[in-house]
Amino acid sequence: MTIARGGRLPDGLDRAMEQLNTSVDVDSALWPDDIQGSIAHARGLGRSGVLSAAETETIVSGLERIREEIEQGRFVWDRAREDVHMNIEARLVELVGPVGGKLHTGRSRNDQVATDLRLYCRRRGQEALASLDRLAGAIVDRAEGELDTLMPAYTHLQRAQPSRLSHHLLAWQELLRRDRGRLEDALRRANESPLGAGAVAGSGFPLDREGVARELGFAGPMQNSIDATGSRDFLMEIASALSILGMHLSRIGEEIVLWSSVEFGFMTLSDAFSTSSSMMPQKKNPDVAELVRGKSARILGSLTALLVLEKSLCFGYGRDLQEDKEPIFDAFDAAIVSLDALAGAISTATFRRDRMRAALLRGHLCATDVADFLATRGVPFREAHHVVGALVREADTRGVELSELPESALVAAHPLLTGPELKSALDPEAAVERRALVGGPAKPRVQAAIAAARAFWKASER
Ligand code: ARG
Repeated sequence: MTIARGGRLPDGLDRAMEQLNTSVDVDSALWPDDIQGSIAHARGLGRSGVLSAAETETIVSGLERIREEIEQGRFVWDRAREDVHMNIEARLVELVGPVGGKLHTGRSRNDQVATDLRLYCRRRGQEALASLDRLAGAIVDRAEGELDTLMPAYTHLQRAQPSRLSHHLLAWQELLRRDRGRLEDALRRANESPLGAGAVAGSGFPLDREGVARELGFAGPMQNSIDATGSRDFLMEIASALSILGMHLSRIGEEIVLWSSVEFGFMTLSDAFSTSSSMMPQKKNPDVAELVRGKSARILGSLTALLVLEKSLCFGYGRDLQEDKEPIFDAFDAAIVSLDALAGAISTATFRRDRMRAALLRGHLCATDVADFLATRGVPFREAHHVVGALVREADTRGVELSELPESALVAAHPLLTGPELKSALDPEAAVERRALVGGPAKPRVQAAIAAARAFWKASER
């Protein structure tokens, strides 16, 4: 039994059409939002005098019973009833009788589903933000604990300059900060009420659009009924924010994969976030990071699906839009599970300070500092760069580090390359502490960055 059939279209649906048509397997996830939206709509109808107080009460309590049935797993979803909206409405009529049929007065599934989706995004958006906050908190905790761990900073994945692990971890956190802003911003724009827009051209009933919007926690009613029912850019914005976030998590995942390789050996994941191989008994694989990388592809796929879904739709609802749900649901699922798993993996991982230290000492990481040493003494930087470049080549030929070259070789390369301050130029620890500009890796700067990060993430926990 479907609600709409039997009126205009008395014949049953073809099997293939029924399969194509039904969406309840997917959109039943909207049930909390659908019930919330319907209760607000019913109350609005009551306030407008379209429903009597008693009718409103009957419908609202019927919807609350349905909520309980679903929560307790007693609700039977029926594919023949097409979607979440008709399943809930049909059950309402079963529970409260024909008065249940008055709920849909002045409403279409077009404004109903648009409302449900906005409520859904707000709900899952809050979940995603909470998970984001937890991941960022875990990263900042680790940054604080590893304040004294030095490591190379890389460019082109080649050892570049001495830095500290906490500085690197805080770089991860900076991405998440912006991700938070983007998601919040998208959610803010999505927070408007389509209810009252009807199928496309509003309703002749005196609906209380403002009051319904307020009851649902929306900023206000959407200002154009055609736009309200047929536009899904809010989903695209949210999926964009989640895609960029997912891409960032994927980058972090990529570093975790690298760092937990024997070749890098900077990090050991806890067993709780690793898996083994069905064949090779020695394996401990960083699957958490690889899966997070993989999930980011799905999120980006969702964004693409949403963009393509709407690109050729003329104004006014088109049934194509039924296909907007899986992508956004999937994007939220993938983002949230990735955030939670990464938070756990990062909090429980071991950073191999010894390996990071060893990496710091090989690869002439203080070459820039030696060039800077000469530049400070008046040698044009370009010339200094050239001199030190030649010294690095010489060190490589001798199979030693720049810091291990005999003083005679240094002075031969440039007469100013001597003295106790040169020692400090060649010392990675001193090199890190010298980089004390805003945004740099020197300890006081990183301590300040940790404090600023703490303040930011604390303020975001609302
Ligand atoms: N299941 C539909 C969707 O998700 C609900 C709206 C259907 N509207 C319609 N006119 N058939 O978009």
